[in-house]
Amino acid sequence: MNTTQIPSWYATYKDLIETSISKYFDTYLAIPWSKPLELFKETVRYSCVWGKKLRWIFALEFYLTLSNKSVDDVKQDDDILRFCAAIEIIHAFSLVHDDLPCMDNDTLRRWEPTTWKKYWEYQAVLAGDMLNTLWFEIISDIKDPKMSQELAKLISHAIGFYGMVWGQIEDMYFEEHLSELDESILKGLHYKKTGRLIEASIIWGIIVSGQKANIDIFKDFGRKLWLAFQLKDDLLDVEGTPEETGKSVWGEEKGFVYLSWADKTRKVLHEIISDCRQISTSLGSEKIDFLVDYMENRKK
Ligand code: IPE
Ligand code: IPE
Ligand code: MG
Ligand code: MG
Repeated sequence: MNTTQIPSWYATYKDLIETSISKYFDTYLAIPWSKPLELFKETVRYSCVWGKKLRWIFALEFYLTLSNKSVDDVKQDDDILRFCAAIEIIHAFSLVHDDLPCMDNDTLRRWEPTTWKKYWEYQAVLAGDMLNTLWFEIISDIKDPKMSQELAKLISHAIGFYGMVWGQIEDMYFEEHLSELDESILKGLHYKKTGRLIEASIIWGIIVSGQKANIDIFKDFGRKLWLAFQLKDDLLDVEGTPEETGKSVWGEEKGFVYLSWADKTRKVLHEIISDCRQISTSLGSEKIDFLVDYMENRKK
């Protein structure tokens, strides 16, 4: 299959989560939106639209494959959608804060002005804060309290101090101290900054399916996959264009490409994808196979 062409099932999955996120906003934010809040409401919704929705599509497909279900079996109030919405909301919050002037000072995201650029900085900080608390509410309503607790712990480890926060601190530091960077530090940084959330999306999909038997194999898969995601992201930063990627690109060596050059980065990426493909083939899901290949071939 040509992985630069998005198959129709991908759009169906995406619509499902977008409807579900919208529904959670309506449910959890069912307060009278007085005049001062009108702009804020728009800011919050704006921050969550578009994007590839990769993390939750992986989570949903792992869940469906392992529980032997089809997407038509999923109902809007199923726990898996609650969980997928939480991941996507967290990811959206991380991007809103990442783009802020005090961090990456970015003005383009998903082909549109970044949240702070469109709605002011204070709105973006608060929209991020709101999204990073909304997921608690969504997860706490999962029917099985033990599962809800397990997911909450996994999420907080992936995005809190031991994960994204730590990774972002290192990212900001090494931007200014590039000569101190080596491959092992970079891998650790990226694993914490973005890897843990991608890895966790797969683990969570499995937990919600109730099929934990081979979780170690899939942890390994998740770890390889995040590295592939990041290698590709760094390549796109050098080789992509804002028209294709929908965000600013550096146009110069950065991240793994800075340390190893584009050719080696591409080669390592291909090797990792081949490893992941072996694991995904054993699952017998064409959709997961597609997603793995897409990690290597995506243009945005
Ligand atoms: C971009 O993530 C930010 C990083 C973690 C490097 P995605 O490439 O998944 O962004 P969207 O959600 O599709 O915009
Ligand atoms: C974004 O990383 C990571 C998080 C939001 C946690 P980057 O700053 O490297 O990604 P882009 O280029 O803005 O998407
Ligand atoms: Mg950043
Ligand atoms: Mg950034």
